[in-house]
Amino acid sequence: MKIKKAVFPVAGLGTRFIPATKAMAKEMLPVVDKPLIQYAVEEAFEAGIEQIIFVTGRGKKALEDHFDRSFEIERTLKAKGKNDLLKQIQELVPRTGTIIYTRQNEPLGLGHAIWCARDIVGDEPFAVLLADDLIKTDKPVLSEMVKKFDRMRASMVAVMEVDKEQTDKYGIINAQDVEEDIVRIDDMIEKPDPSEAPSNLAIIGRYILTPKIFDYLGRKQKGAGGEIQLTDAMKSLLKEQPIYGYKFHGTRFDCGDKAGFQMANLAFALERPDLRDKLLDFIKTL
Ligand code: UTP
Repeated sequence: MKIKKAVFPVAGLGTRFIPATKAMAKEMLPVVDKPLIQYAVEEAFEAGIEQIIFVTGRGKKALEDHFDRSFEIERTLKAKGKNDLLKQIQELVPRTGTIIYTRQNEPLGLGHAIWCARDIVGDEPFAVLLADDLIKTDKPVLSEMVKKFDRMRASMVAVMEVDKEQTDKYGIINAQDVEEDIVRIDDMIEKPDPSEAPSNLAIIGRYILTPKIFDYLGRKQKGAGGEIQLTDAMKSLLKEQPIYGYKFHGTRFDCGDKAGFQMANLAFALERPDLRDKLLDFIKTL
């Protein structure tokens, strides 16, 4: 079965980014001139996704408006002859009916946010994208994972090596190599202390999951940090179904973290011909 639906959990509190996230979802923070969520939605469409499911919380309005038409702006741009900008804002609005919003009314954790989308996803495999994990790459991660899913027909998560000292910030896997860039996962643990981590291979925010995951998420067991963790549900799923890890190529920025977010802005801006020289000149003056 083709992967047609993608879930975007955007209901986290974003406490690491306070005060910016006090009234706004962190996924609306812009890297250069595009909100994080737009990068993720574009990656999903590029991978062939047909339906976008947002699990929202606070700050929902700005996100909804971002993917909706703005007649006021369109009229003004048209009147001023700014046709490039007009085209840009028209193109970012998906076809009517493509986006579905549901609400996580309490931020009980990533696993719980995904469970909130269970009836919309139904009985088919689906993708999950965490927009605050921004990945700069020539091979868009979800597209690669969809291709591999088509062949392997099993759940899959994006993984990368992290600093040994940082394992307590990630879901960490224990896995065996099966082919180039693919590992088969034996076990996983959320945010282990470096002394207990089975490896330094961390799960990054791109997933393809079979609907069986909802059985485990529905048990609502609390894990690390008192939250309902996706990693714990996937660990249970492993007893019944295989899960693979895709070692993606590229640089990942943790945009939920203030330093990671600034690095992402710098890296993406320096690739823009209209910004590069101005920025480099300025950096030299600092
Ligand atoms: P994070 O682990 O980054 O948590 O969530 P957070 O609460 O957003 O941020 P901090 O740690 O307090 O700064 C990973 C993803 O899961 C979503 C977030 O929006 C983010 O995309 N999430 C997390 C939810 O949708 N609901 C939750 O209850 C928790």
